Amino acid sequence: MVVIRTVDQLTKTLDSLREQGKTIGLVPTMGALHKGHISLVNRARADNDIVVTSVFVNPTQFNNPNDLATYPRTEDADIALLEAANCDIAFVPTVEQIYPEPDNRVFNLGPVAEVMEGAMRPGHFNGVAQIVSKLFTYTKPHRAYFGEKDFQQIAVIRQMAKLENFNLNIISCPIIREDDGLAISSRNVRLSPQMRKIAPNIARILKESINFALSHSVEQTIDFVTTSINAFDGMEVEYYQIVDSHTLMPVTSFNDSDHVVGCITVYCGDVRLIDNIAYKR
Ligand code: PAJ
Repeated sequence: MVVIRTVDQLTKTLDSLREQGKTIGLVPTMGALHKGHISLVNRARADNDIVVTSVFVNPTQFNNPNDLATYPRTEDADIALLEAANCDIAFVPTVEQIYPEPDNRVFNLGPVAEVMEGAMRPGHFNGVAQIVSKLFTYTKPHRAYFGEKDFQQIAVIRQMAKLENFNLNIISCPIIREDDGLAISSRNVRLSPQMRKIAPNIARILKESINFALSHSVEQTIDFVTTSINAFDGMEVEYYQIVDSHTLMPVTSFNDSDHVVGCITVYCGDVRLIDNIAYKR
């Protein structure tokens, strides 16, 4: 594996590989890598000749400066994990490489970027669109891999790629969970021992709600999930929305769409966790 730190070296290396007819798979990350990230690398490894993983904590997608300052940075461990996963290129640029000047682009992403996380974290998805569009431009991948853990992010990136006419396949990969069901996240290490113990109830209740939904309305299902999670001391649901998986618009009945997903954010103490569950795939 080679570690590349400049845009210039990345584009030159990949241009030459592309000319040789190699297919390129891109896995964008912000580092602090765990099994969830590595599952994307494994999928990219299976699908492509060349796997590029980017490790870059993108400042423009943080709407909270403290969140950016405290974001975990574990570069050496990340490089070791990527090497072990048979990644070909780790792209680990500095902020100056990516943003030699401020990126003032405003993407017209529409409703998919305005609901849920978009409403809670203003500017967040515009920042995601900025960095991912730069990575697509530099890498020109045949395929790019994203986790369904950030369900809305995939819809936003699809929208950005359509707007910008990127010609590539965006591939969504399933959520990787701990044995007890908790969706793996770099934030899990910040949970207190007590919160870590009860956090798996989020995934458990979401899963239970699939059965519940068979004989109840959307509204009743939202209430079931929210009330059951809030019953745990220290856990508080920020939002639970049941939406069309493509448009991310709320559904009022499970018959409204053939693709229905429930998206949740929960404060576990002061740690904000997200998860989701498919009612109809
Ligand atoms: P980051 O949070 O590092 O996540 C990188 C990728 O790993 C995302 O596509 C995310 O959905 C996926 N991922 C994280 N945890 C996962 C899990 N438990 N199972 C499956 N996939 C998981 O998302 C970002 O970075 C950034 O917004 C980025 C797209 C890199 C732009 O800066």
